Amino acid sequence: MSEAFTHVKPGALLAPVPAVMVSCALPGEKPNIVTIAWAGTVNSDPPMCSISVRKERFSHSIIRDSGEFVINLVGQAQLKAMDYCGVKSGRDVDKFSAYGLTPVSVPGFAAPAIGECPLYLACRVTTVQELGSHDLFLGVVEQLGVQPGLMDAAGRIDYAKAKLVAYNHGNYYALGQTLGFFGYSIAAPDVLERRMKELR
Ligand SMILES: Cc1cc2nc3c(=O)[nH]c(=O)nc-3n(C[C@H](O)[C@H](O)[C@H](O)COP(=O)(O)O)c2cc1C
Repeated sequence: MSEAFTHVKPGALLAPVPAVMVSCALPGEKPNIVTIAWAGTVNSDPPMCSISVRKERFSHSIIRDSGEFVINLVGQAQLKAMDYCGVKSGRDVDKFSAYGLTPVSVPGFAAPAIGECPLYLACRVTTVQELGSHDLFLGVVEQLGVQPGLMDAAGRIDYAKAKLVAYNHGNYYALGQTLGFFGYSIAAPDVLERRMKELR
């Protein structure tokens, strides 16, 4: 065995993670946006995501009472607006108009998606779990919206075009370099070479 780890105070130090803009609304009321870093993919079938939200957030009661939330993925062009939505409360400001963001209706949902974001996942809440500091909202993805310009000829989403950002304990990062792909460790040499060329 090599040297042991240094043990520090336990914390949920998972990184990097996406930071997303979650839009929410009660039927007939003004929508709000809250920035969330504690978001996750939790199931494939049915497709499910989670968000963890502190009770004191203005958005918390909107999500709890409406039973829905819309996760908007964030590209570099939306980064500043995302940061703003994470430091200002909808109690005090209209975050859509503060950054000129466009609310776009989502079929079957009161909450709009954010028209400028590359992709959205509209989720119906199935479970709310009180954890301590945060409440965990689990939701089934009922609508998935993608900017048409991000789809390639084969109908796949071109994530490179979306210029998604990552969050790493206080700082935001661009995703830059493709290092590999799912299964590349066991790919045949010709497949590896071709795919890596495509990805560069
Ligand atoms: C990068 C970033 C990540 C954040 N992640 C979370 C989170 O996961 N859960 C949460 O409750 N608040 C999180 N916040 C804080 C809220 O976004 C912030 O308190 C916001 O102003 C609440 O808005 P609201 O009062 O309109 O709901 C985050 C803020 C930033 C800037």
